[in-house]
Amino acid sequence: MSDFPSRSQDFFNADGISGLTHRAFTTSMGFDSDDMARPLIGICNTFSELNHCNSHLRTISEAVKRGVWQAGGFPLEFPTISLGEIHLSPTSMLCRNLAAMDTEEMIRGNPIDGVVLLTNCDKTTPAALMGAASADLPAIMVSGGPMLSGHYRGEILGACTDCRRYTVEYQAGTISAETYREVEANLVRSAGHCMVMGTASTMNSLMEALGMALPGNGAIPAADSRRIRLAQAAGRQIVQLVAREIRPSQILTAEAFDNAITLLNAVGGSTNAIVHLPAIAGRAGVDLPLSRFDEISRRSPLIANMRPSGEYQMEDLFYAGGIPAVLKQLLPLLHGDALTVTGRTLAENVADAEASNSDVIRSLDDPLAGEGGLSILRGNLAPDGAVIKHAAASPALCQHRGPALVFKDIHDLKARVDDPALEVTPDHVLVLQNGGPIGGPGMPEIGNLPIPQKLLKQGVRDMVRISDARMSGTSYGTIVLHVAPEAAIGGPLALVRDGDEIELNVAERRLQLHVSEAELAERRAAWSAPPPAYQRGYGQLYLRSVNQAPLGCDFDFLRGRDPAGAVWQPKF
Ligand code: FES
Repeated sequence: MSDFPSRSQDFFNADGISGLTHRAFTTSMGFDSDDMARPLIGICNTFSELNHCNSHLRTISEAVKRGVWQAGGFPLEFPTISLGEIHLSPTSMLCRNLAAMDTEEMIRGNPIDGVVLLTNCDKTTPAALMGAASADLPAIMVSGGPMLSGHYRGEILGACTDCRRYTVEYQAGTISAETYREVEANLVRSAGHCMVMGTASTMNSLMEALGMALPGNGAIPAADSRRIRLAQAAGRQIVQLVAREIRPSQILTAEAFDNAITLLNAVGGSTNAIVHLPAIAGRAGVDLPLSRFDEISRRSPLIANMRPSGEYQMEDLFYAGGIPAVLKQLLPLLHGDALTVTGRTLAENVADAEASNSDVIRSLDDPLAGEGGLSILRGNLAPDGAVIKHAAASPALCQHRGPALVFKDIHDLKARVDDPALEVTPDHVLVLQNGGPIGGPGMPEIGNLPIPQKLLKQGVRDMVRISDARMSGTSYGTIVLHVAPEAAIGGPLALVRDGDEIELNVAERRLQLHVSEAELAERRAAWSAPPPAYQRGYGQLYLRSVNQAPLGCDFDFLRGRDPAGAVWQPKF
């Protein structure tokens, strides 16, 4: 092994009382000087029983440790906060930057030489990589993997696409309470993250395209023993990365982000990636404007047939060859020479991959769609951009003009949307204000506004919906999201009133509010900001510092990199 960076050796071999305490307290855990002579690998674990998706990460961690020992390293595990979509309120997104700060400071502050980051649920993966990119020590991402597919009376169930679909049918009165309960009992079969191509599947797959995870990270099911072996291999590999001093800054280049966006489109991935990738890029010092997403979407075919826009789930994708097979198909469109955590290029990583089921993974010659499924919209309603996943939208609504029906916030929406007296038709455009980073607060996943019950009962299942909020990657419909600037800071979305004509034209990437400039100026002069959601604590820090969606909702003071140097050692 070459001379590895000496953060840990500086720590353990320090003079005087510093070295004495460092060694003595480590010895108290049963380790000896042979262990302390090895490169120290941190295992950053987001295990939590309040986060189902990450609840099996202790097992993954044990496998990583085995790999680190095998390769001559010294593994020590440490926790960081874990953000679960199901249990955490008001929204896990509010805490993503907190988790990123926690991760960065634990990497920077501890005497480790490299780190393996164990993540799974939606926000845990981008948060960990944001922190690791800023600290810039050698790092590998290892996710916990997707759940097994649910099965119910011959039907495949996916979380949480089918949670939503069956809820809509239950509300419309087309299924019984008993069926609804049976779906609940058969939906989630194992540990792991949601198994459609939602946000967790998307982000954990993109780690392969970014070069920050070993091949297989995206799709190996949580319950499959190959997930354990991948974790063990990652433990071995991080020791090699430390020896070769390969850092995230050498991997997270502009080309790596292009590769990730190409994969995002090819698998019909989550709109949330259009928030998380700019945030990660901001940490890595890579300029990643929304326009880059649109450029790459237009030239990236959809080749993976994945729910919610397609038919299959992560388990099927794994059996069909997984993300390496998708990347192999995409190679002509990728920067194949991009460096990855294997120490090899992306093209070398996938050279032996094969797509074994063309229903699940198509070739470039026979794609499901010639373009990607994500578009960036602009217009006077979204001067800084908005996002639509048109792959999961109703084609007939992708060009639509209709009157606005405005809800001023989530509370107003909840209070009125199912009111039988609500004046609404299928042609209406539902508008939700104050669901953005500041207004939400935390840009919650409320952008998939429910279809009013009176229309559900008439058989309506989709409408144009517009907000500055996000939506779950497991959602579907003609839903315009991430409108920027957001309503709570006076963006044009705040000025929309009932009856205003709104035009959506996805082909032309246009989102237009047909109200005169003079009228808008009058409304702007009369507008006042909603009261702040927080007066103290982390919430207040968030409101003061959060960037808008096009910059990934990172804190303004966290963008960029500040590589961890030698561990600071006070002299006693
Ligand atoms: Fe964690 Fe869906 S709840 S990924």
